[in-house]
Amino acid sequence: KVPTFKLNTGATIPAIGFGTWRSTEEEAYNAVITALKVGYRHIDTAYIYGNEHIVGKAIKDSGVPREEIFLTTKLWATGAMKSAESLENSVKSLGVDYVDLYLMHWPVTMNPNGNDDKFPSKPDGTRDVIPESEWSYVDTYKSMEKLLENGLTKAIGVSNFTVFKMKKIINECKIVPAALQIELHPLLPQQELVDFCQNNGIIVEAYSPLGSIGAPLLKTDKLIKIAEKYNVSTAAICISWQVWRKVVPLPKSVNPERIEANLKIVDLEDADGEEISNLYKIHGVQRFVSPDWGVVIFD
Ligand code: A2P
Repeated sequence: KVPTFKLNTGATIPAIGFGTWRSTEEEAYNAVITALKVGYRHIDTAYIYGNEHIVGKAIKDSGVPREEIFLTTKLWATGAMKSAESLENSVKSLGVDYVDLYLMHWPVTMNPNGNDDKFPSKPDGTRDVIPESEWSYVDTYKSMEKLLENGLTKAIGVSNFTVFKMKKIINECKIVPAALQIELHPLLPQQELVDFCQNNGIIVEAYSPLGSIGAPLLKTDKLIKIAEKYNVSTAAICISWQVWRKVVPLPKSVNPERIEANLKIVDLEDADGEEISNLYKIHGVQRFVSPDWGVVIFD
């Protein structure tokens, strides 16, 4: 049985979620069906993944009651100035009555009439970003607070924020985000940001917990050694480490065996957890996904 954590809304969130980024439609459908069959009860998607309709269909076809599933989707930057309409569209695509968590995908606003609806963006590689002086992520968040009124989402949160930006939201808005989703793995522990959130009752979620495409982290000697000690896969160690530090990992896989294996976590001893937390000192910090967006990742 997957452990659970509590959101600041009082709701329960399964401590391991299933990621659906970068899957084809057929892969995403089969993966979500498999995930629900083997015991995942937390599915993470986003408008920009282009698979909300597929994820929703898989949830329906799985036969698992909707209320047993924790479902997250995300507000894309082109929809930042119309979060209510964007949430309505996402809920409709998913074919559900509500989502459990709606996250601002990036702390950036993009031209709603531009071509950033599918990334990347302009032919010269730049993005059609609206200046913060005109509409900032604080404005977006304030509009998201109103989304809680009609029940289309049970909780709101943010993604790809820094400590500086989290503080700004807490200081300038009414509702403390329920969650922050960021790139997190043994070579990107972001401990200061994790601590800040946890000290403020905000659940932290880890995307790319294996290092994303090709799972590069799994070749790390120390992780392999620790995996041997517990007699589980190196992936299971990366996932267990997040749960050990009270973070919700969102591993992604389209392979049925790996989907199932990733759920089999172990209780790490503190010494092993701490050793993993310090691996970046040997190998250096590595961002596998977010450097692409460095302009908003760093304050
Ligand atoms: P696949 O979908 O073929 O399993 P992340 O969760 O960090 O985004 O990592 C996803 C990548 O890791 C994908 O390339 C996925 O490939 C691979 N992956 C997922 N689970 C495992 C596992 N248990 N062992 C090895 N690779 C995995």
